[in-house]
Amino acid sequence: MQKKVLAIYYSQSGQLREIINRFCLPLEEAGNSVEKVEISLKNDYPFPWTSKRFFSVMPDCVLGVTAELAPFELKSTSYDLIILGYQAWFLSPSIPFNSLMHHPAMQQVLKDTPVVTITGARNMWVNAFTKVKKLLNDSGANHVGTVALVDRHLNLVSIFTIFHWMIGGKKTKYLNFFPRPGVSDEDIAHAKDFGEVTLPYLQKREWKGLKEELIKMKAVVPKFHLMFMESKAGVMFRVWAGIIAKSKKRNILLAAFKYYLLVALFLFAPIVYLISLLFFKPFLPGYVRKKREDCLKLN
Ligand SMILES: Cc1cc2nc3c(=O)[nH]c(=O)nc-3n(C[C@H](O)[C@H](O)[C@H](O)COP(=O)(O)O)c2cc1C
Repeated sequence: MQKKVLAIYYSQSGQLREIINRFCLPLEEAGNSVEKVEISLKNDYPFPWTSKRFFSVMPDCVLGVTAELAPFELKSTSYDLIILGYQAWFLSPSIPFNSLMHHPAMQQVLKDTPVVTITGARNMWVNAFTKVKKLLNDSGANHVGTVALVDRHLNLVSIFTIFHWMIGGKKTKYLNFFPRPGVSDEDIAHAKDFGEVTLPYLQKREWKGLKEELIKMKAVVPKFHLMFMESKAGVMFRVWAGIIAKSKKRNILLAAFKYYLLVALFLFAPIVYLISLLFFKPFLPGYVRKKREDCLKLN
């Protein structure tokens, strides 16, 4: 019997749209009804960003402030599966995604419905994922699987390339020397295989085992050193966001945050990386394993 699937997401550059399209292909080819909804904000963020606008969204991202969505329609009030695309902005769910999660129409369809979450990130998606899990839990959704595609290049390299992409608007090689930013074309194409694996679970409406199968296929690979960096950065972001949100000198503080972030990325992050590599991995393997396992829990 044909199943009803909703694939709903926000995408600025089109990267997450492409990933979701690839994931959905096997579900569509098998004759299921896949309703795709790309949401936007009433006053959307223009893409590409300017540097000032890019940093200006940090406090609202981190503090979970919502914005008004442009009107959208869902054809049904219940689905057999919801595919939910989210992206990390400043280690938190993006403002459009967070706003979607608080929308009454979304709250209604999420309740008791199986959900597969999909992200296309630079490489720091774990903090955002933790918040997404909480949002799904609060909505009464049944989180059955997750896919996290990332830029596989070195952290320091992808910092240069993502800025080139976000500020320049083109997913091209910076200076013709750096690698292309974001999720690679091969990994985007591979998202189809994750949809393929999901299909029999959808047909049977029985979700036990999907999460494990996706993990086995490396649909989601938490890296300890990045998680470790994220956890430290997440604390600092919350401090900055709290101070900036309350201050009357917002613009000055946002400029200061930008320079703080550059220092953190190029100076603190390599130090934190070395600590995780030289201390945590060899001496605390149980702790490292537990952190990875916690990340892969869906509830
Ligand atoms: C304002 C902003 C902040 C971002 N912060 C992060 C982040 O903290 N971690 C991460 O892995 N990617 C981050 N990214 C990259 C996005 O998660 C995403 O990969 C990229 O914006 C492409 O998504 P799209 O399909 O919406 O265009 C950020 C992007 C933007 C625009």
